[in-house]
Amino acid sequence: MAETAIRLRDVQLTLGTGRSTVHVLKGIDLNVQRGESVGIVGPSGSGKSTLLMVLAGLERADKGLVEIAGTPLGGMSEDALASFRGRNVGIVFQSFHLIPNMTALENVAVPLELAGSADAFERAARELANVGLKDRASHYPGELSGGEQQRVAMARALAPEPAILIADEPTGNLDQETGRQVADLLFAEQARRQMTLVLVTHDPALAARCGRTIAVRTGVIHDDGHGSAAATVPAAGPAASPVGDAALPQAAR
Ligand SMILES: Nc1ncnc2c1ncn2[C@@H]1O[C@H](COP(=O)(O)OP(=O)(O)OP(=O)(O)O)[C@@H](O)[C@H]1O
Ligand SMILES: [Mg+2]
Repeated sequence: MAETAIRLRDVQLTLGTGRSTVHVLKGIDLNVQRGESVGIVGPSGSGKSTLLMVLAGLERADKGLVEIAGTPLGGMSEDALASFRGRNVGIVFQSFHLIPNMTALENVAVPLELAGSADAFERAARELANVGLKDRASHYPGELSGGEQQRVAMARALAPEPAILIADEPTGNLDQETGRQVADLLFAEQARRQMTLVLVTHDPALAARCGRTIAVRTGVIHDDGHGSAAATVPAAGPAASPVGDAALPQAAR
């Protein structure tokens, strides 16, 4: 049986305070198998980015189960969650999110140094060469094109060799041709490293390159790409412990 990389059960999240409170995720059920590529589509404001933040462990769900690589995130301390994320999840954003006063090489080395890698800069150099930017290693983000910045961001996301790669509109700020090159790189690396890929996009052509497309509408999954709503997936067995219930070896730090 295929391994489940991501398992969400009745995930709910409200953001904001007072009058700006929004019930963003209203009961998300989702299974993603290891090595699968999933494109998430849906109207602006439907909760796609919020959903990615939850499954990356950057936002905590108010309710429900978030299980990544067999580990429920709910009961983890902030430190344990950061460490777990660093080892398991790579993230690429639409606006690159590079650190402006660090060179390309230093940016890629950041997650490796945080993980305590003894050869962070050697590995970072290899990752930069892999995305075709060996000769831009000492450039600052402001000295790089958008496409180059996104390739640096991809090298940074890939460097810790995550099992799961999450991308929020990774080509959204790029022209069509540059976007296609970044997408080619993304899918080539996903296949080569056998990663699970979850990608949000407004580009139907990019979504179509994923093995499965999921449609989100106002905080729920409207179509899970299996021809039925995810809510109809058979209920999980006793292994589905509620959030906050998990005794995690990873949390023991
Ligand atoms: N911190 C916050 N406080 C209150 N509401 C928020 C907050 N963050 C997001 N929201 C609301 O949650 C909803 C979903 O936002 P989200 O960014 O997930 O949408 P999206 O589907 O990614 O949209 P887009 O396609 O435009 O990127 C929006 O209505 C947004 O206004
Ligand atoms: Mg978004």
